[in-house]
Amino acid sequence: MTRPYVYVTRKLPDEHLESLREHAEVECWEKADEPVPRNILLEKAAGADALLTMLSDQVDTELLEQAPNLKAAANLAVGFDNIDVDACSRYGVVVCNTPDVLTEATADLGFALLMASARRMTEAEQYIKDDKWTQWGPYMFAGADVYGASLGIIGMGRIGEAVAARASGFRMKVSYNTRTRRKQAENELGVTYQDKETLLKESDFVMLTAPLTPETKHMIGRNELALMKPEAHLINIGRGPLVDEQALYEALKNKELAGAGLDVFEEEPIRASHPLLELPQVTALPHIGSATTSTRNEMIRLAARNIAGVLSGEGALTQVNG
Ligand code: DGY
Repeated sequence: MTRPYVYVTRKLPDEHLESLREHAEVECWEKADEPVPRNILLEKAAGADALLTMLSDQVDTELLEQAPNLKAAANLAVGFDNIDVDACSRYGVVVCNTPDVLTEATADLGFALLMASARRMTEAEQYIKDDKWTQWGPYMFAGADVYGASLGIIGMGRIGEAVAARASGFRMKVSYNTRTRRKQAENELGVTYQDKETLLKESDFVMLTAPLTPETKHMIGRNELALMKPEAHLINIGRGPLVDEQALYEALKNKELAGAGLDVFEEEPIRASHPLLELPQVTALPHIGSATTSTRNEMIRLAARNIAGVLSGEGALTQVNG
């Protein structure tokens, strides 16, 4: 019997793919930091029993039609908006993600962005690096208080809860908005449910941790930004398209909003010429929410175990569909 064939769309460390090699022939795209070209992905998928994908790979009907043996698509992320899950279900393909193992690292990054935006850290750092610091001034880079401020979290899943736990150490007043009310989080973390409009109006910081779906696309647009306080900050660690970037640019430019901390963008990688990046009050990161070495190792091991589970018939650990 021929062994199943698994295609991994980035060069990943061998030692974390061991559980997979026990069950399958594994081939990796040759580059770690460059996505596999679409034509190569399609070619490899055509002969693959499973794919280990990144958020930069589209798994859609076009791919599924050409991949008759495909049984699993394991995404190296908790988000899976790059995968057409309904189509995968129709084609009998198990979709997996990597929840839990990245929760704390992503929450750390969210909180770091919040603090960096509040205290204008990247702007201040640039000032030093540009050799502009010639004297000290009492209001030089004066920013916003984090301690005791109000934080509104939109999308109260595992990452939202982990952000709320961090915020309690800063004595922040935390409210949240999500599709279904989270009574347990309310009891355990002391967070308060608010409708979206009230949350936007009352929060000093609004943090987005929601997944991208057709319903959440542009959930923060011109109208929502207009509700926010001019001294408020918007932090996005969910997905770029949650925010209408043109509307965000205008709100920041017109000083209707104090700052934004963004780890995700409507189009990734964002180019340096993007108008948002010209604004000093934007703190921008290249989608590194879960990027700690140990978290990435864990994510790879979980994705590999998911595929091994599907191929061995034991089932995936973290399946999204079915
Ligand atoms: C995820 O897992 O969805 C993150 O965005 C990747 O860092």
